[in-house]
Amino acid sequence: MNSSGSDDFKIDDTVLAERKSFLNLVEKDERVVAELRTAFDRIAPQFIENFYQHLLAHPASAGYLQDPKLVEHLKQLQTQYFEELVSGQYDAEYAEKRLRVGRMHQQIGLEPRWYLGAYNLYIQECFPAFAASLASEVPPQLLSLLKVILLDIGLTLETYFAASTEHLRQHNKELEQALHMYFQTEVKARQYAKLAGHEIRGSLNAISNVLEEVVDDFAGDIPVEARDSLQGAYDRCSQVMHVVETILAEPEDAGTPQWAETDGLLEEVRDRMAIYGEGRDIELTTPHYSVRVWADPISLREVFANLVSNAVHHLDKPKGQIRVEHQLSASTHIFSVVDDGPGIPRDQQSLIFQPFYRNEAQPHRGKGLGLYFVRRIVEQHGGQVWVESVTGAGSRFSFSLPLNRLEPSVADSKSVTTPEANHRAEAS
Ligand code: HEM
Repeated sequence: MNSSGSDDFKIDDTVLAERKSFLNLVEKDERVVAELRTAFDRIAPQFIENFYQHLLAHPASAGYLQDPKLVEHLKQLQTQYFEELVSGQYDAEYAEKRLRVGRMHQQIGLEPRWYLGAYNLYIQECFPAFAASLASEVPPQLLSLLKVILLDIGLTLETYFAASTEHLRQHNKELEQALHMYFQTEVKARQYAKLAGHEIRGSLNAISNVLEEVVDDFAGDIPVEARDSLQGAYDRCSQVMHVVETILAEPEDAGTPQWAETDGLLEEVRDRMAIYGEGRDIELTTPHYSVRVWADPISLREVFANLVSNAVHHLDKPKGQIRVEHQLSASTHIFSVVDDGPGIPRDQQSLIFQPFYRNEAQPHRGKGLGLYFVRRIVEQHGGQVWVESVTGAGSRFSFSLPLNRLEPSVADSKSVTTPEANHRAEAS
């Protein structure tokens, strides 16, 4: 599985070797650090207690540790970390764990200065204790110097973060402006679509009437093949008319979450297949039961439509299959759009949900915003989106929607179909 940013924790052996070489961290170091392992059991319990005492005594860190159960849990994990620290094995697995732990602290919003500062506790307490276990002593001047070194590292690193934060802020501002423009264009496009829809409806009606009259009035005079073609044109008119009617029926309050049934939304997507498919033989299958979800129906329909049209556009053969699937987990609905198209190379899978991303090698070129909007809409609904894909074997785009996004009100609850009820309905 590869969702936005989830694969960032891989570290290349060569890159790790280069880092270790720059630090002069050689095999001998690994061996001698591992010798401290014997003193670890004696030192660790008290040290871990002191570590969290210190964090709890400082407002900058105490706020993160309000839950005593969390602190107890962290004590165990911190002990594990301490053990790994003196394990003498600093391979890719070790480095990847550190990256993951770093990401966790970043996600809870802990600033690097506090994370880094906590290492001072390791240095100030464990160094003398380890030295004592080796019948030796760390000169106090060196311990003091290490404090200054940590202060310096923290201050210097902050300038790096400040620069990249500023860069991101600027980037986000530009992105927000682009999105604002895009949304405005979308609103205008919808208004225009409604205007055009009225015109098209009138013209389609006129064309359908003429076709019907011709077939009715001159049935005997028209060769069979020509009559089939006229019937085909009439059917196509009806299909497009259906799409136009759907656009015209869109409520003005589009964007409001409510209980929505997926069968109706997927039917609307199916209606569009004639347009997406451009005459190709593409089979679309959808769940044979309806799922009731708390969502803005129009946005959700566009998520399905985007994923399905994306699958159609990238299909590299005249025949294809697209399946919309639904699964239920303890707390989420998971919808997937599965295709048997060309698949997506691994290195692109984490990029495709980013705005303006386009694969230049693909013949179909959009604005590079479709999947980004899918991600935005899904995230606005409290869900996540990801892709699993194997080159040459197709792709599975999935998104989750929380089950209990909003507890239904008492009035609502009478009419709410729970997912379990959906499944019961399916079974009966
Ligand atoms: C020497 C510096 C630190 C080390 C080595 C360290 C290590 C760790 C480790 C190993 C975990 C568990 C990760 C996992 O679940 O696999 C963790 C989680 C956590 N740490 Fe630290 N930590 C450090 C500093 C701090 C500081 C200064 C705070 C401030 C309060 C802090 C707060 C937390 C919290 C709240 C979590 C739980 C995060 C979550 O589950 O979402 N840590 N830390």
